[in-house]
Amino acid sequence: MSYPYQINSFEAYKEVYARSVQQPQNFWADIASNFKWRRKWDKVLEWDFNNYKTEWFKGAKLNITENCLDRHLEKLGNKPAIIWEPNSPDEHHRILTYNDLYQKVTQFANVLKNNGVKKGDTICLYMGMIPELAIAVLACARIGAIHSVIFGGFSAKSIADRLVNANAKYIITCDGAFRGGKDIPLKSLIDDALESVDFIEKVIVCTRTRTPVSMLKGRDVWWEDEIKKVETLGMAPAVAEEMDAEDPLFILYTSGSTGKPKGVVHACAGYMVYTNYTFVNVFNYKQGDVYFCTADIGWITGHSYIVYGPLSAGATTVMFEGIPTYPDAGRFWDLVDKHRVNILYTAPTAIRSLMSYGDEPLKGKDLSTLKVLGSVGEPINEEAWHWFHEKIGRGKCPIVDTWWQTENGGILISNLAGVTPAKPSWATLPLPGVQPCLMDEKGNEVEGPGQGNLCMKFPWPSIIRTTWGDHERCQQTYFDAYPGHYFTGDGAMRDEDGNYKITGRVDDVLNVSGHRIGTAEVENAINLHAGVVESAVVGYPHDIKGQGIYAFVIYNGTHNADDENLIRKDITATVSRIIGPISKPDKIQFVTGLPKTRSGKIMRRILRKIAENDVDNLGDTSALLNGEVVEDIKKGKI
Ligand code: WT7
Repeated sequence: MSYPYQINSFEAYKEVYARSVQQPQNFWADIASNFKWRRKWDKVLEWDFNNYKTEWFKGAKLNITENCLDRHLEKLGNKPAIIWEPNSPDEHHRILTYNDLYQKVTQFANVLKNNGVKKGDTICLYMGMIPELAIAVLACARIGAIHSVIFGGFSAKSIADRLVNANAKYIITCDGAFRGGKDIPLKSLIDDALESVDFIEKVIVCTRTRTPVSMLKGRDVWWEDEIKKVETLGMAPAVAEEMDAEDPLFILYTSGSTGKPKGVVHACAGYMVYTNYTFVNVFNYKQGDVYFCTADIGWITGHSYIVYGPLSAGATTVMFEGIPTYPDAGRFWDLVDKHRVNILYTAPTAIRSLMSYGDEPLKGKDLSTLKVLGSVGEPINEEAWHWFHEKIGRGKCPIVDTWWQTENGGILISNLAGVTPAKPSWATLPLPGVQPCLMDEKGNEVEGPGQGNLCMKFPWPSIIRTTWGDHERCQQTYFDAYPGHYFTGDGAMRDEDGNYKITGRVDDVLNVSGHRIGTAEVENAINLHAGVVESAVVGYPHDIKGQGIYAFVIYNGTHNADDENLIRKDITATVSRIIGPISKPDKIQFVTGLPKTRSGKIMRRILRKIAENDVDNLGDTSALLNGEVVEDIKKGKI
């Protein structure tokens, strides 16, 4: 079975695309008519990129979980919704049918209500990749609570910052999370975060690792106990709260070039329509296919393409708790064979990492169920593309290279699997409804083939609505650089056929193993370390991670001053403590000064060249106030 809005040929894509640009409102209204609404919209779209506002399906009433669960029960009730694969292959996997998921979500929604959570409340989820995370996400949406999922690799300090920013009074967490050989003490990290946050009313703790946890009377409760209470009370399955189309569905924090991470806000209706539409079309999903996205639900890819997109389409989505190399580098392939996966969506960094193990982990793996492969998160280099295509896809599976961002909610530029042509290392063509353009340095639009800063001329349904608590920041970050346009922060090239190739960020944002990291944030963390005078952080090419973090640090502390490696370890520990292990610098070089312009700005261009080992092309350094430090920095390069 396919979907009425599924695009089946390149010709059809061209027609659909043209219509989506000429009549965007009719186009999206037709697609939206395939969903379950409590009340239809009064107006499809209202927007203004100069004084930023976007509203889709205004006046409509809905609940996204009725679209992800209730509406499937009659026909797909016994179909697997989630296939969960644990960290250890020795533990049994779990299958939740649509009936099961409906039962668990509506039951946990009652738990939330019993604990005082109300529509419009913000609620923080800090959990591992277990089905209860998906259940908790959907239970929040069921009662109209705004979820803010925090990835398990963030520190207590990062959690506290996010709790404060979102004013979240409720937390759902686990005792711990298994990830490869590690056991991450999630509840203990929450406890550390709560040392500095005093407005938390309830912490619901789900059992997973059974690592010892402290449970504060009155504040902390066990998930399992709360379920029992609901059962004893004999509560009926929680009825879905009626939401406005534009009510916030969730907040997800992401890093930018300045300041603390911002809370990207997505709204109920547009997000639902767009994630579903792109899921079905990009992966060419057919009823019965088993789909496996290897992302973590702590990131947007997991929100849109593990939970909401697939479930709203009645798909079977695989959720994996572990990592690609545990217990060995054949784990993904075992998983594909075990669950007969048809569609595999992963990240270039995972592909490159698995590639580095050679052919051995592939021995004895069948992989014949695979039909479609997907890549997301960073540019995929040609070598990784070809390895993925030959070794995993056996030369017969189309690869979709999907470009998008947290702020976009869903995929904006990608080929459609088996439907529109692929071009290795090119994201290719915009999805219907998406109107990209390239801007030159003067802010003029580049016509035809060329290169420039990637912008969007027109809103799509799941565009960011605001940054939580600070709408001005949303305006400044995305809409001020090129008036009337959404600016992505990426550079791109366009060929004569209109295909796009993303060249990477043009701002001070790094992409390390597909994780988005702000250089300013890392610098601020390093600068908190005793003895550090100043620092500058840049990216450098890294074979597996895509980019590595290179820190230039001026240090005048005395402690351990004779052992640079010990200081490096201390600085790394500080970054881990302030932001989280995902932001640890790969290299730290001690310097006596940083190259600065006369106005006192660090010339990062030069540091980037040095970090990239391109020291002979430093360009014009005449504007430097302290040109002499450059030679020293070059000599000290590690
Ligand atoms: C940045 C967004 C939304 C997916 C997960 C990352 C880079 C993402 C691609 C791709 C080249 C890509 C961009 C973008 N990026 N996908 N297919 N090709 N670059 O979401 O954390 O918001 O990061 O990831 O630089 O701006 P994110």
